[in-house]
Amino acid sequence: MKKTIFKQNHLLGIGHLSTADIDLILETAESFVEISTRNIKKVPALKGKTVVNLFYENSTRTRSSFEIAAKRLSADLINFSASTSSLKKGESLKDTVMTLESMNPDVIVIRHSAAGSAKYLTTFARSAIVNAGDGFHEHPTQALLDALTIKQKFGTIRGLKLAIVGDILHSRVARSNLFLHHKIGNQVNLIGPPSLVPREFETMGAGVYYDLKEGVKDVDVVMMLRVQAERGAGVYFPSIREYRKYFAITPEVFSLAKERAILMHPGPLNRDVEIDKTLADSDRSVILRQVTNGIAVRMAVLYLLKGAGK
Ligand code: CP
Repeated sequence: MKKTIFKQNHLLGIGHLSTADIDLILETAESFVEISTRNIKKVPALKGKTVVNLFYENSTRTRSSFEIAAKRLSADLINFSASTSSLKKGESLKDTVMTLESMNPDVIVIRHSAAGSAKYLTTFARSAIVNAGDGFHEHPTQALLDALTIKQKFGTIRGLKLAIVGDILHSRVARSNLFLHHKIGNQVNLIGPPSLVPREFETMGAGVYYDLKEGVKDVDVVMMLRVQAERGAGVYFPSIREYRKYFAITPEVFSLAKERAILMHPGPLNRDVEIDKTLADSDRSVILRQVTNGIAVRMAVLYLLKGAGK
């Protein structure tokens, strides 16, 4: 297995990765996919290493797949949950991390509502830090597992056209995907109401569309985003009914994409808000494949940071 080429000993965002890093992570992930299909789903690559899952925000997919990834690599894992920790007694993020660090972990995986929280940890922590979603900023492993899913479907991640639809403004998933596909030269159309897709995104190399049909025309990938009510998205458009009318993906609108196009969603889904429920379950949808690929990608990231190659 090749050595890690992360410039830093951390994974903070796609913005910090080179295209060679992205390719290496995906190739490493591809080599790990098969492990999850074995009867004994375990290799000793991270035996003796300790991974801390430090989640200050709710998560189903990211948290459980980092846990499974660490365990399939034979690492020890501590699951820290904000709701049952001393955070409730007023302990700060720094004191919490320093306390966990005194138990000598090797990797801390953090999800936090504050943009920049993962980077902040690198200013005082010894462990490798992995960003599992920091506020509106980045969700790098989501963009990487999306890229692995795209690669499995098309045989490449290059030369493609993507549409990302919905609450772009509040979406760390959109930002990480935009960085990734911009780096490798893919065209990305961002689609949604003007209040959720500011024109400023054009300066990041994206096309901005306020008409869903126009934006999805002839794309290879349609990536729907969740309407993030908890981040205040509901105040950016008049009603869910109106949002659904203009920006929900339906079989009719999806048919405007390329014939081979795939439908993605990072989850959790708001069925029949941003995505038609029959389409979500159709054979064009790769939503559950994305979840499966989360394990291999997170195994690759942990391995490249702390495995034998390192
Ligand atoms: N896609 C994603 O980050 O999902 P979770 O919030 O369930 O981790």
